[in-house]
Amino acid sequence: MRAYEIARGSTSTEGLRATTRPNPTAGAGQILVRMRAVALNYRDLMIARGMYMGGPVAADTIALSDGAGEVTAVGPGVTRFRVGDRVAGTFFRGWRDGPPPGTPLVALGAPPADGVLAEQVLFDEQDAVAVPAHLGMEAAATLPCAGVTAWHALIENGRVRPGETVLVIGTGGVSMFALQFARLAGARVVVISSSDEKLQRARALGAEGAINYRTTPDWEREVLIFNHGRGADHIIEVGGAGTLARSVACVAPGGCIALIGAVSGFGAEINPFGLLAKQASIRGVFVGSRGHFERMNAAIASHKLEPVVDKVFAFEETPAAYSHLERGAHFGKVVIRL
Ligand SMILES: NC(=O)c1ccc[n+]([C@@H]2O[C@H](COP(=O)([O-])OP(=O)(O)OC[C@H]3O[C@@H](n4cnc5c(N)ncnc54)[C@H](OP(=O)(O)O)[C@@H]3O)[C@@H](O)[C@H]2O)c1
Repeated sequence: MRAYEIARGSTSTEGLRATTRPNPTAGAGQILVRMRAVALNYRDLMIARGMYMGGPVAADTIALSDGAGEVTAVGPGVTRFRVGDRVAGTFFRGWRDGPPPGTPLVALGAPPADGVLAEQVLFDEQDAVAVPAHLGMEAAATLPCAGVTAWHALIENGRVRPGETVLVIGTGGVSMFALQFARLAGARVVVISSSDEKLQRARALGAEGAINYRTTPDWEREVLIFNHGRGADHIIEVGGAGTLARSVACVAPGGCIALIGAVSGFGAEINPFGLLAKQASIRGVFVGSRGHFERMNAAIASHKLEPVVDKVFAFEETPAAYSHLERGAHFGKVVIRL
């Protein structure tokens, strides 16, 4: 079968290469999935650049964590799925529900776990979910990392309520899911972006506040003004070094900063005492469990929510899909069709 892998020791997207692997067969408890679409995350750039977790990948590794397809075979003992079911794999192996397990989590697309950018992928049946019936495969492929992370942060941890204010940083994959989930919950959303055109698109999705962080570098003041001096009850913090101190400045009393990513770099220096009198918190979020994914899918199905897909590339155009994400021109998710 055809696949794309990140070559051992890769330090840039040049390490992405087409390859072939033997066709897998389903063993006990496993399902074989014919992948139909996969989606990119910022993490996939970090993996190719050798900047994810422990450094460059130590073995050739099939790329990407997120994808959806149809079950084409089931191994002995499988009870959760049948041939023909439309499924997506979970980002982590083995985290079914409840609090994060004590053992290190293994995620797809980085050693020791191959990813999903292959024509056929094996999953343990416990590490897959049915995808919402109304979604096409390209939309369903966007859910496992970006969707679940936003859901976990805002709905499961944040328990966002109608009328609360949610600050969404940037207009990438996690952020546009967060905007959509916040609107489902009846919250007011303010988005910051480098692009006025993207801010217009965010408004069309229901954002009430829209701030260009290039032309308004002290955007935290505008966030405070947006909510009458109170600030944001929930902050989807994907910026890192360039944004975290400003997020601390504009989080509302009793609010929570969901610490998710660092597109502008790690190593932020913040004064945590800025949180004390406001009794606000910073809480780390690391994607989520199968339970999070299943509850998110129930909400997506019930509201017929459509993930925001920026652009779909053909399998042979995989390097172009990586370049597109790397340029940062996207709004929402970048997808590859298989
Ligand atoms: N903890 C977790 O479980 C988890 C899960 C998923 C992702 N993440 C992390 O979250 C981050 C976002 O991931 P993603 O896949 O959603 O990325 P993405 O689709 O590439 O989007 C990133 C967005 O960040 C915005 N941005 C870039 N530089 C910025 C800056 N200096 N200040 C403010 N915003 C900036 C850009 O928005 P504009 O173009 O609108 O300016 C860009 O579209 C990454 O760091 C990723 O590793 C973590």
